[in-house]
Amino acid sequence: MLSLEDKIVAITGASGGIGEATARLLARRGAAVVLAARRGERVDAIAQDIREEGGRAAAYVVDVTEAEDLRRLVSSTIDRYGRIDVLVNNAGIAPISPLADLDTAGWSAMIDVNLRGMLNGVAAALPAFRAQGAGHLVSVVSVAGLNGTSPTMAVYAATKNAVRTVHEGLRTESTDGVVRTTAVSPGYIRTDLADSMADPRIREQTREHMAAVGISPAAVARAVAFAIEQPGDVEIGEITVRPTRQA
Ligand SMILES: NC(=O)c1ccc[n+]([C@@H]2O[C@H](COP(=O)([O-])OP(=O)(O)OC[C@H]3O[C@@H](n4cnc5c(N)ncnc54)[C@H](OP(=O)(O)O)[C@@H]3O)[C@@H](O)[C@H]2O)c1
Repeated sequence: MLSLEDKIVAITGASGGIGEATARLLARRGAAVVLAARRGERVDAIAQDIREEGGRAAAYVVDVTEAEDLRRLVSSTIDRYGRIDVLVNNAGIAPISPLADLDTAGWSAMIDVNLRGMLNGVAAALPAFRAQGAGHLVSVVSVAGLNGTSPTMAVYAATKNAVRTVHEGLRTESTDGVVRTTAVSPGYIRTDLADSMADPRIREQTREHMAAVGISPAAVARAVAFAIEQPGDVEIGEITVRPTRQA
């Protein structure tokens, strides 16, 4: 019988969108969830809501660009629940723009949050996973990180491709059965991701596209749950979740 009962799962970027949906679904299915994001009042309110529905949840303020914040998230999770079974590296931003706009601040921010943030998660979780003898790293990548790229997406896609490469590296270094890795790549999902887009034209286009073809973040949450609930000797390596209508 596959189950999420007793799983202890920490999730970054859990103040909205895919992270929030994942926390709510996993908690309903029996996991204890630890929500992390910069907006503390939002993760506090979601955790409170989960507890009122009978679930187990805690919340912490975490900026994934700060390695120490991730270390504190992992140690607080272990202090509270005894261990950490899964870290979901979900936090991400997408201030996309044409390269010719030279939005170097946006490029740096994407590298810092999407790539360095994920690496900070790896650095925080791996020692705990090794000490426990088991652990599962899940990262939310993107279909933009699966192959080529398209106009405005170059740096975002580069960070997501890099995250996928790190996952593959970790997988090849983890054949002793201790660490499982899963990279989940969503297509258009209806979330607030467009809010991080500085260019108003691109932001509006993305919002319109999300409204027209996007699917619920619960679809990604179900994929994360599927990967987590597998027996310890089964690794779901890569999952793509896109709207049926997406090109
Ligand atoms: N929506 C899509 O169509 C889509 C498609 C492919 C991939 N994705 C990926 O899915 C993931 C989740 O995005 P979403 O669509 O759910 O967007 P979202 O609703 O904007 O959620 C992004 C989350 O990331 C958090 N975050 C941003 N910067 C952070 C930082 N420095 N430290 C900690 N948390 C941070 C935000 O929380 P705070 O602002 O409170 O910190 C928020 O909870 C991202 O990695 C994104 O690239 C989304």
